[in-house]
Amino acid sequence: YGAAQVLVASNRGPVSYTVGEDGSLDAKRGGGGLVSGLSAIGSDADALWVCSALSDGDREAVRRGVGEDGVRMLDIPADVHADAYNGIANSALWFVHHMLYQTPLEPVFDAEFRRQWTSYETYNRAFAEALAEEAAQGAAVVVQDYHLTLVPGMLRELRPDLRIGHFSHTPWAPPEYFRMLPDDVAGQVLRGMLGADRLGFLTQRWADAFTACAEQFAGGLGGTRIGVHGLGADADFLRKRSHEADVEERMAALREEIGEGRRTIVRVDRTELSKNIVRGLLAYRRLLETHAEWRERVVHVAFAYPSRQDLAVYRDYTAEVRRVSEEINAEYGTPGWTPVVLNLKDDFARSLAAYRLADVALVNPIRDGMNLVAKEVPVVSDAGCALVLSREAGAFEELGEDAIVVNPYDVTGTAAALHEALSMGPEERAERSKRLSAAATALPPAQWFLDQLDALRG
Ligand code: G6P
Repeated sequence: YGAAQVLVASNRGPVSYTVGEDGSLDAKRGGGGLVSGLSAIGSDADALWVCSALSDGDREAVRRGVGEDGVRMLDIPADVHADAYNGIANSALWFVHHMLYQTPLEPVFDAEFRRQWTSYETYNRAFAEALAEEAAQGAAVVVQDYHLTLVPGMLRELRPDLRIGHFSHTPWAPPEYFRMLPDDVAGQVLRGMLGADRLGFLTQRWADAFTACAEQFAGGLGGTRIGVHGLGADADFLRKRSHEADVEERMAALREEIGEGRRTIVRVDRTELSKNIVRGLLAYRRLLETHAEWRERVVHVAFAYPSRQDLAVYRDYTAEVRRVSEEINAEYGTPGWTPVVLNLKDDFARSLAAYRLADVALVNPIRDGMNLVAKEVPVVSDAGCALVLSREAGAFEELGEDAIVVNPYDVTGTAAALHEALSMGPEERAERSKRLSAAATALPPAQWFLDQLDALRG
């Protein structure tokens, strides 16, 4: 047996490497809920994070034996990883849980899919074997997300002594959509997850959908317990980080671009199909069309960070986001006013600057596990912001009361919501923003993680 008492497994790890021109390896640390969760355990418990080597730099680091304490990267063959990550996780499973298929033509579960599925099994097995090797007797293992649904079951067979948890950061599909997957694959996914002692979800809605799938296709939950842990925003980190010099600099630059005395509608997403960025732009165009009084008086600052560009639909979607933004600017822009400021390059400090300047946050996903942006903007915005929020985001369960709630498919409805948000008086806006911020920070990441560990051990 290994030495680790607490283990986390996820596809994307907390650190990534790039190879410099002189051949040296440069490490970049990531953020997010799990990072602060694990740091909250402290150094006394022996914690280990098992993740995939994703970049060339990561693979090189594994080969050279370079790494950080508490992180083990798995160098899974690139073609196996690509099949598992692009083909199964980010296509089949992501599309099913977010209900993204255009069903007259998709999905097509053919021979290629079967090859990818075999890779997904191999990739999950590599994780299960590494965890089995590293875990101390009776250790707690928390497996993350749809990339690793088979791991709990595989690990249970290798190490019956372990406490195994799994946490889903996505929605879960309702049974009538989930059963689109081939029966044997659907069964493997469910049985894999039910190998865990405990399954965590972000909202009751996703937990109920999983339970319904387990009942209909896997004979029920068996001994597996289900818990809901609504990950909140990391207020301490965000408030501190958003006042650092690089953010202040970017605020000054962004203020220039927006122009004096204008309102700001902010959105920040990965360029992700489920985030509904295009309909958000169409709603903004509709606002300018029907409420001429906002022309020259508002700017939509939209961040659409590059994501999953190996998939053609994501590249096409990125092109569409760009096209519609340019169209709006061509149609309504004036020499002193750019209606849409689109940001396609990753710049965390600049998005925090936009958070601080936000009058309105637009969060309109088709379907989303939680959506932390909805929780972060009210915490960070300097003057308090109005939140336009999709009822299909997990965050709706906690923030719905003080947000302006939209049906994400309803473009005219979203345009009306933007108008309402922009028109909100400063007092009401500040009050609502305060309540949103309180709800958004109810379960900070460290506590979110510790609660799961407690529940797993208890
Ligand atoms: C979602 C998933 C995460 C994933 C993230 C970024 O939030 O739940 O597991 O890491 O998207 O996607 P990527 O494919 O870049 O890891």
